[in-house]
This record gives sequence, structure tokens and C-alpha cells, in this order.
Amino acid sequence: MSGQDQRLQPVLVTGANRGIGAAIATGLARLGHPVAVGARRISDADDLIRSMPAQSMSVALDITDASSVRAAVDDVVEHFGRIGILVNNAGGHYDLNARASEVDDAEALDALEINLLGAWRMMREAIPHMRAQQWGRIVNVSSRAGSFAESERNAPAYSVSKAALNMLTVQIAAELRDSGILVNACCPGWVRTNMGGPEADLSPADGADTPIWLATLPDDGPSGGFFAERTESPW
Ligand SMILES: NC(=O)c1ccc[n+]([C@@H]2O[C@H](COP(=O)([O-])OP(=O)(O)OC[C@H]3O[C@@H](n4cnc5c(N)ncnc54)[C@H](OP(=O)(O)O)[C@@H]3O)[C@@H](O)[C@H]2O)c1
Repeated sequence: MSGQDQRLQPVLVTGANRGIGAAIATGLARLGHPVAVGARRISDADDLIRSMPAQSMSVALDITDASSVRAAVDDVVEHFGRIGILVNNAGGHYDLNARASEVDDAEALDALEINLLGAWRMMREAIPHMRAQQWGRIVNVSSRAGSFAESERNAPAYSVSKAALNMLTVQIAAELRDSGILVNACCPGWVRTNMGGPEADLSPADGADTPIWLATLPDDGPSGGFFAERTESPW
């Protein structure tokens, strides 16, 4: 695939209506990518794309619903002709200050449903399209909370689900080795969003920097890694 084709690769960003996802979508659109803004409420995505280039599209997407995921990927492929870049940004269930020993099944399942299975469903639907063109970039927006080396152990269900997402990244990257599809996880840092709160040190645009860098890696870029501030970080 020529460099020009790669620059034009369409992107789908999940949870792109606000926070870090909106900054990733906006940043990639500024670089010239056709961007699909995924949001549970399509009206939220419509609000964002009004400020983005005309080639942007909004797509209804609830990552906890397999039929919504399938329909969203189909919509993007129908609209743009392909999907080259997937940013699994949507996340939730940040159970700050919960006690690991007291998390009940419903809470644990809710965290896994959003942070692990949501990304898994997205990859299941998008990867066949990337395989068909032998080119793709997948970015799993994870967290240092899911790193065995760095987790501060204060958001148990969230951290476990992000650790699982990290392992899923390793598994999918290994499966896709030499396929032209690069798969990486990252931590955006502590970012001022609904999740990060007003005291966080980074703006959403700062938090979007490493995900955007991973989404636009050259063909000889890394795969199967975990990154923060554009630097490999310990799992
Ligand atoms: N902020 C931080 O400091 C920080 C640190 C480390 C990692 N992260 C990670 O960065 C990513 C973005 O976080 P953020 O801070 O931007 O969070 P946020 O402001 O709370 O935004 C979360 C986004 O995910 C969407 N979402 C939640 N559940 C969804 C579902 N079932 N289907 C589709 N979309 C769904 C939300 O949509 P609605 O608007 O519909 O709710 C929203 O767009 C997350 O994966 C988070 O774990 C954040």
C-alpha cells in the first residue's frame, strides 16, 4: 500500500463524543484522516462532527452490544469503503477507592464488559476488514492501573479489566504478527475528563497524543507493546 493510501486510512474511535476520545477523533481528523465518531447517543457524535472536516461521520455505537458493534463497523466500511484504524477508547467503571475484597460479581462483570469485552467485540468485527487489505492499526486505550508493574491498586474492578485488556492486546498482536496490522495498548496519562476529574494534570489533547501516535505508526512500528508518553512502558 502506498504512503498516500495509508495517510487516507479511515478511523473509527469508540467513545469519541467526549473526553480523550473526542480529542483523538479531532486530532486524527486534523491530520487528514476520515474519522468515524462512535457514540452511544448519535446526537452526541453529531455535535462533535459539526466542528470537524466534512468527511467525518457519526456512528451509533454501544460497545456492550454485539449487534451495535457489528452495525457500526458495517456503517463505517459502507461509508468510507474500508476501516484501517480502530481506536478502542471507550471505557468506564472507574471504581476508585473500592476494596478489591468487596467487589461483587455485578461490578466485576460491568468493568469487564466495558473495558475488555467491548474492545474484544470491536476487534473481532474490524480485523477481517484490515486483514482483507493487509494493513491496519489498532490502539487499545488502557491504563497504568492495569499494569502489574505500575498499578497503584486503588480501583480494583477497573484495574483488573484493564490488565485483561493488556493481555488481550498481546494475544491479538501475536496472532496478527506479519499481517500488516499493528496492535498496541497505551495509557493516556492522568487526564481532565469525567473519569480523570478536574485535578488531573493533562488536557484531553495531551492525553490523545500517544493514542494518535500509535494510530499513525509507520509499517515498521512496534506491535504488542504498552506505551505511555510515546515510550514503551512495563506491563
Ligand atoms: N482520564 C484519565 O485520567 C484516564 C487515565 C487512564 C486511562 N483512561 C482511559 O481513557 C479512555 C477514555 O477515558 P476518558 O477519561 O475520556 O473518560 P470519559 O470522559 O468518562 O469518557 C468515556 C467515554 O466512553 C464512552 N463509553 C462508556 N461506555 C460505553 C459503551 N458501552 N459504549 C460506547 N461508549 C461508551 C462514554 O460515552 P457516554 O458519553 O455515552 O457515556 C464516553 O464517550 C478510557 O478507556 C479510560 O479508561 C483515562
